[in-house]
Amino acid sequence: MQEKTIHQEISLPLLTEKQVSLTIKREDLLHPLISGNKFRKMKYNLIAAKSKGFDTLLTFGGAYSNHIAATAYAGKLHGFKTIGIIRGEELSKKWEANPTLKLASEHGMQLKFISREDYRDKENPSYLKKLQREFGSCHMLPEGGTNALAVQGCQEILTHEDADFGVICCAVGTGGTLAGIINASHENQHVLGFPAVKGDFLTEDICKFASKGRWKLITKYHFGGYAKVSTELIDFVNDFRQKTQIPLDPIYTGKMVFGILDLVQQDYFLPNTKILAIHTGGLQGIVGMNILLKKNNKPLLNL
Ligand SMILES: Cc1ncc(COP(=O)(O)O)c(C=O)c1O
Repeated sequence: MQEKTIHQEISLPLLTEKQVSLTIKREDLLHPLISGNKFRKMKYNLIAAKSKGFDTLLTFGGAYSNHIAATAYAGKLHGFKTIGIIRGEELSKKWEANPTLKLASEHGMQLKFISREDYRDKENPSYLKKLQREFGSCHMLPEGGTNALAVQGCQEILTHEDADFGVICCAVGTGGTLAGIINASHENQHVLGFPAVKGDFLTEDICKFASKGRWKLITKYHFGGYAKVSTELIDFVNDFRQKTQIPLDPIYTGKMVFGILDLVQQDYFLPNTKILAIHTGGLQGIVGMNILLKKNNKPLLNL
């Protein structure tokens, strides 16, 4: 798989007016399913799983998880069995209507649905041992795929070609991708993380893996929390796609780019700042999100 991605500079009147440049690093183009940070997070995990002789990958996720979709596909591609532990028992009867889970199953993933209460134990060693007893020995990937090997992979998102950018922006779920970017950033660079989730736990989680200090979380663009979207956000994602030909996902990258442009509007960045925003993928989630939006009589995301 091609590991080098392209830079796409965005041309918008707001950016010209404020004399700020915004470039998107198209990690989403790495692969339709193992795209963006998923490819980076998986790379060293797959190498480790192979070298330790595991034939199965086991991981955790919610109904629309990009990580579940990517693990299923990467497993199939590299000869691993895959098991997905999915949050929400209620899905066991209707999962085939969920495009992410259906795709994961079509790629060979065995799905196990557990209650939200049991799901809270997903990092508890005794629960993990129980899963090992049930499924045999396997390489376990935590929710969102973040572990030390994933962070090592995410360090490869930034390369010497990015050295010229003063600000690097990335969407944040568990914080593993941001930690990799922080570790790979240059001394002249500031790293901004845009959490797509609500909560104060992220700084501590990021500090477990990040080894440098020039970073900050911009916490006001989560739109109510994980997978919560508003009509304003949907309109923004559709409008941005129409003007730039770049598709964004509504859960992560849409919120980040909305936030960046809002900060530009508010003169958060000095004139001549060069911003690099990482497109971490997640586009497989659009179809599932549209099903939810349609149910709620909201405008849909353009495909
Ligand atoms: C498309 C996309 N972007 C960004 C992120 C955030 O990554 P992380 O969990 O490493 O913070 C995720 C989460 O998995 C994602 O699916």
